[in-house]
Amino acid sequence: MKRILVLMAHSSPSQSQVNNRMSAAARQLPGVTFVDLYALYPRFKIDIDAEQQRLKEHDVIVFQFPFYWYSTPALLKEWQDLVLEFGFAYGPRGDALAGKSCLVAITTGGAESAYSIHGSNHFSIRTLLTPLEQTARLCQMRFLPPLVLFSAVTASSDGRTERHVQTYSRLLEALRDEQLDLPAAFRQRLLSETELPLLETGATSGTQRHG
Ligand SMILES: Cc1cc2nc3c(=O)[nH]c(=O)nc-3n(C[C@H](O)[C@H](O)[C@H](O)COP(=O)(O)O)c2cc1C
Repeated sequence: MKRILVLMAHSSPSQSQVNNRMSAAARQLPGVTFVDLYALYPRFKIDIDAEQQRLKEHDVIVFQFPFYWYSTPALLKEWQDLVLEFGFAYGPRGDALAGKSCLVAITTGGAESAYSIHGSNHFSIRTLLTPLEQTARLCQMRFLPPLVLFSAVTASSDGRTERHVQTYSRLLEALRDEQLDLPAAFRQRLLSETELPLLETGATSGTQRHG
């Protein structure tokens, strides 16, 4: 079993429709450590030693957050700036994160069609997430295709939130149980409800769902 750490950052949880539900699902999964960064550090006073120790104790690091200004909420950026230190996460002998996996699980207000060269946001979500992807690479982590819920603000009214939360739970369980088909996953740009390649007993690849 892999040890999963979910670092969740949402600056206005009382207004959250989707991340709160994702958080509730992640919290109750065995083998998953869930950390609400804004609840833990309301004044942005991050305990660097505790955060580094927690990273060392896990195999898969999940960053869960609503997409804010094409980036992370401010506290998660502060967390990166302080916790991913030279000599710990990168640089000579800075290999504490080497070999771990990194998953970004985000929700966006914008529609999927807006996140393209011809859309109003002009760039794909993978392009906009390249700072996080390269951060993971510099730290010698394996950057998994991100899990994205587009148009999150309307997702609850059309039933997508429920399905997304189930997909998120399945993905965390699959990472914990090493049941994500990694070669198939890496052929995808993103992970989603319909494109979650899971290994099943007797199967080697393919897009499959648990019943
Ligand atoms: C400060 C702020 C900045 C935001 N920036 C973006 C953005 O750059 N792109 C986008 O698609 N949505 C943006 N949004 C919308 C949020 O991503 C969206 O409300 C959130 O993902 C919904 O998840 P929740 O229900 O858990 O809050 C922004 C929202 C806020 C409050």
